[in-house]
Amino acid sequence: MTAVIELADVSVVKGGNRLLSSVSWRVDDGERWVVIGPNGAGKTTLLQVLSTHLHPTEGVVGILGEVVGTVDVFELRPRIGLTSAALADRIPRTERVGDVVVSASYAVIGRWRESYDEQDHQRAQQLLQELGVSRLSDRTFGTLSEGERKRVQIARALMTDPELLLLDEPAAGLDLGGREDLVSTLSVLAYDETSPATVLVSHHVEEIPQASPMC
Ligand SMILES: Nc1ncnc2c1ncn2[C@@H]1O[C@H](COP(=O)(O)OP(=O)(O)OP(=O)(O)O)[C@@H](O)[C@H]1O
Ligand SMILES: [Mg+2]
Repeated sequence: MTAVIELADVSVVKGGNRLLSSVSWRVDDGERWVVIGPNGAGKTTLLQVLSTHLHPTEGVVGILGEVVGTVDVFELRPRIGLTSAALADRIPRTERVGDVVVSASYAVIGRWRESYDEQDHQRAQQLLQELGVSRLSDRTFGTLSEGERKRVQIARALMTDPELLLLDEPAAGLDLGGREDLVSTLSVLAYDETSPATVLVSHHVEEIPQASPMC
């Protein structure tokens, strides 16, 4: 088994607060994990470390076979799909939904590239379809409901065909029906053997997709 995540004694200290304390954890290829904890437990901090956006105060972070700090994170990040409230806030409300998804590949290929090829658009459309929102591809992101936005963000996270998928409270802010719908979509994703290793952060056990164990 290949380790997708390998944390050794990872701690994060900020402003005198210990946000993470000596976390050692291994996630193998194909595994689905759920991290549950109360507000302020450090879940988002953990995902920031895993997505290479935050360097730990202590410990060693191995992601996709690379030790963070010894490699170019801009090469590593496209291999990681991430959805989070902070990332969603940065999506312009006027952007076309299809472009929200396809532009994930832009970040991978580089800023010099000013247009996407047909294959990129087809993949974006296919992902929107898998997430049940293909009808929305010509709408602007700002006109979507919260549940629709969550689905578009997951499609965007999958656009680069990542080897690791990190979902920070994907069902937050949804009503009961919306949450159930999204959880069943996530279950389909979790059962799919071709889906990447996944870490899902949540507050609620009801948000755990089938096929996921719990940590
Ligand atoms: N720069 C900082 N300085 C001091 N403390 C911080 C800083 N950034 C975050 N924290 C604290 O770290 C703790 C963990 O935050 P984090 O966002 O990881 O929690 P969480 O488990 O994701 O919570 P939630 O469920 O509310 O999203 C919180 O108590 C937060 O106030
Ligand atoms: Mg959080």
